[in-house]
Order: sequence, then structure tokens, then C-alpha cells
Amino acid sequence: MPAASSPVPSQPKGSALPTHVAIIMDGNGRWARQRGLPRIEGHRRGVETVRAIIDATRELGIRYLTLYAFSVENWNRPQDEVGALMGLLEYFLKRETKTLVKNRVRLLTIGRTHELPAVVRNQLEVAMKATAKFTENTLVLALNYGARTEVVDAARAYAAAVAAGKEKLNDSSWATFSRYLYTADLPDPDLVIRTSGETRVSNFLLLQGAYAEFIFSPVLWPDFTKADLATACAEFGRRERRYGQTSEQLKLAGTASSR
Ligand code: FPP
Repeated sequence: MPAASSPVPSQPKGSALPTHVAIIMDGNGRWARQRGLPRIEGHRRGVETVRAIIDATRELGIRYLTLYAFSVENWNRPQDEVGALMGLLEYFLKRETKTLVKNRVRLLTIGRTHELPAVVRNQLEVAMKATAKFTENTLVLALNYGARTEVVDAARAYAAAVAAGKEKLNDSSWATFSRYLYTADLPDPDLVIRTSGETRVSNFLLLQGAYAEFIFSPVLWPDFTKADLATACAEFGRRERRYGQTSEQLKLAGTASSR
């Protein structure tokens, strides 16, 4: 069931820095292949990048970071790779929880996490409990996530709420329905980055990213650095977000002239 509180307001108009950055971490396999290493080595290096980018996000003043760590479609990978990814996730959570607490970063998840292996679920629970009180920075791990399954889950929950008399079908709106998405308490992403030169969205935050700016970086995820993130944020700052309006309207309103 969704939380009762209303969604966090999205990024203030005119702000050059994204409030919420979401990243499709791609290129681990190619990074490994280029070095004659097994794919799992790429994922291992990818975990080090995850740690560095969590720090970088905080240092740059970005309050929300969502990482696409495992999609619903990723179960179709070879079983040894799926097992290795679950192992890395468990390792990351075990090792990183103290650091998240030290840096006051709240951990949340989106996705069908109840289908993850018990060891991973347990570590997630420990990490989320330990960081639940922090409000300054939020790390969201998209785990067993897919935007289409998210819509199906939200529609089911919404229908149940209507049947129970908690929602009125006639009052349906995006504001009410979106409270049934996994992201009910999160602001929409302002900037979505995909690494490795691929230019697809791959079932990631399809609804929440409706007005996001997209940046496709050629850098493979294991090589992605704080400087690359800062470069993407600078490009974001030069974009004009019009939300369906014209550039002239925005200029007249004096809100988001260079955004
Ligand atoms: C895509 O690269 C990457 C993934 C499917 C997994 C991402 C996982 C990590 C970075 C490590 C675990 C995450 C956390 C949060 C601890 P790919 O394998 O599709 O690369 P390729 O397209 O070059 O083959």
C-alpha cells in the first residue's frame, strides 16, 4: 500500500542543479570484455563506481539518486550472472550500510523486492531500518524493477482501494493514481543518465521520467566518475525545461529562462 503523505515537490523552477538524478548503469559487460575479463569482473568494478557516485552525488548537492541495479528482465541472464549480481548486492549492502549511516543517506528501494533472495531481502531490511531517519540525502535502488510491472502493481492497488471505498473512481487523476506507484514519496527524476552509449530507456521510470532531461554518456559504467556526473549536471543546467509551454511564455513568467 502507498504511504499516505503527499509526494515531495519536484525540483524548484530555475534551479540549475537536479534534485533527483536517476541512472541506468550500463556497460559493465563491455568494460570486462575489453580487458579479456569475465562479465562479473565488470559488475564488481561497477559496484566500486556505485560507491563513488553515491559520494559524488552528495558532494555535488543532489538530494536523490536512483540506480537501476536489477531489472525484471535481468532474471533472463545466465543463472551464474544472476547469482553473482545477487551476491554483489548482498556484499554491497553489508559493506556499505555503515557508510550510509555515517553520511546520513537514507536507503529506499523500488521494485518487486519481495521476489529477491532472502539473504538480499534481509540485508536490505537492515540497511533501510538503519537509515530510515535521514532526510538530507536519499539513495533509491531499483531492484527487480520494471516500469510496466510497476503500473500493473499500482493499478491493482488502486483498484483494491476503489473497491474498499478508499478512493473514488470519479476522482481519478494523476495526483491520486501516482500515490500507488513505488515512487509515491519521491520527487520525479529531473535528470536520467544512461551510460555506455546506448540510447534506450529500457523500462526505467517511464511515467516518472515524463519531463526528465535525458543524457546518454558514452562512458562505460565502471569508468564513470564524479567529473562525468558533474558534466551531465552542467549540460542539464543549460537545458530549457518547458513542461509543454513555449520558451517565450517561460521568459515572460521569468521563471526558467535558461533551463
Ligand atoms: C548493465 O551492464 C548492468 C547491470 C544489469 C547491473 C548493474 C549492477 C551493478 C552496477 C552492480 C550491482 C549494483 C549495486 C547497487 C550493488 P551490462 O552487464 O548490461 O553491460 P553490457 O551492456 O556492456 O553487457
